[in-house]
Amino acid sequence: MTADELRNAMVDGVRPSGAALSGRVDAAMRAVPRHVFVPEVSLERAYGPDPVVTHRDGDGVPVSSASAPGTVAGMLEDLDVHPGHRVLEIGAGTGYNAALLAQLVGPAGSVTTIEYDEAVASAARAALSSLGAAVTVVHGDGMIGAPGRPTFDRIVVTAGAWDIPQAWWEQLAEDGRLVVPLRILGLTRTVVFERAGAVLRSRSVVEDGFMPMRGVGAVREQNIRVGAGPDLVVRLDDDRQVDASALRGALDHPVAVCWTGVAVPWGWTEHLDFWLATLDGFCRLLVSRAAVEDGRLMAAKGPWGSMGVVEGESLAYLTTRPSPTDDAAMPSYEVGACGYGPRGADLAARLAERVRDWDRDGGQGVQLWIEAYPADAGRPEVSGVLLAVDKRDSRVLVRVAEQVPAAV
Ligand SMILES: C[S@@+](CC[C@H](N)C(=O)[O-])C[C@H]1O[C@@H](n2cnc3c(N)ncnc32)[C@H](O)[C@@H]1O
Repeated sequence: MTADELRNAMVDGVRPSGAALSGRVDAAMRAVPRHVFVPEVSLERAYGPDPVVTHRDGDGVPVSSASAPGTVAGMLEDLDVHPGHRVLEIGAGTGYNAALLAQLVGPAGSVTTIEYDEAVASAARAALSSLGAAVTVVHGDGMIGAPGRPTFDRIVVTAGAWDIPQAWWEQLAEDGRLVVPLRILGLTRTVVFERAGAVLRSRSVVEDGFMPMRGVGAVREQNIRVGAGPDLVVRLDDDRQVDASALRGALDHPVAVCWTGVAVPWGWTEHLDFWLATLDGFCRLLVSRAAVEDGRLMAAKGPWGSMGVVEGESLAYLTTRPSPTDDAAMPSYEVGACGYGPRGADLAARLAERVRDWDRDGGQGVQLWIEAYPADAGRPEVSGVLLAVDKRDSRVLVRVAEQVPAAV
């Protein structure tokens, strides 16, 4: 197949959130040759459904990529770009998304994209100029925005951000829109924010994974091994700490399991992690496949581990087991919690209770609403809030949609 044929097939297959693409995003994706931005891979790979990793750090960890076409399309739909808009992208990567943005804003608009990595920025600049795309590529740290430029109607961030830094507040127009994969206590959600004065309010909140931002404001996740081997790792966000040496003996205790009676199709629990995040010691626990297969540890609820809690010498995390269902096409799983260590049973019970709370609050049908305020705005009203998280430059509030006060 030719590049054009492959590109059209790619666009035909892209349906973010199950919906067809809007005419403008569809046309932009058919117009921009993606393979020009990932010359190191075959045409089939360039137009495949997966992200293409283009750069890795010294440890082999991916630091730059062309995001999956479905992710790119979904973010463009979320951004709602119109001709004439001024758009700022943080994380130029290959430049592909910036080329799509240039199509969407047209000659009356402008696109500025910032890239932290100099080599990545120059490759993006070269690919964009080979196509004659009117994009300004800035090599710099997107956490400090694009100094000296006017405000932007749209800001899109294509790496996982821990905070909404002051520069983005200053550079987003009064009625502007910000699309950002935001890390909240280690949970990454792509949030579509609309600005209303000094507050950003979410239009949608979708679970997704992105490589973390680098630079001045970067906050690294910590991975802490429990015991000598790689079987169990505690992943912590923010600057929270655990005493890894205290946990060393946790796995010598027999497991304590607490089933919840809450069964969900495919084991999918929309936004449940935010209910668990209200518990002290909240973290992600990564369990090795080998330890599960030889029966040393219970399986974590998801392929990327499971949320859980750590306290002193004990820990607990979510797991699942098949649950009877009449619908053979849609398997159901009951959610449970397993605990290890002297207080493992207590912690498992605590997690199980939060799962039942989530189920009572709406379970699968629950919708979240996220607000962000500049840190210097003081401490806004927090009634009806599930979580309030203070970052360096902003304060993030997570609410259950039904509990959003009428005045908001
Ligand atoms: C997933 S890739 C971006 C994909 C890109 N938009 C595309 O169309 O190919 C994320 C990019 O963000 C960049 N990045 C990470 N931290 C950054 C920062 N503080 N400022 C600007 N870029 C950053 C990375 O170097 C990487 O190239």
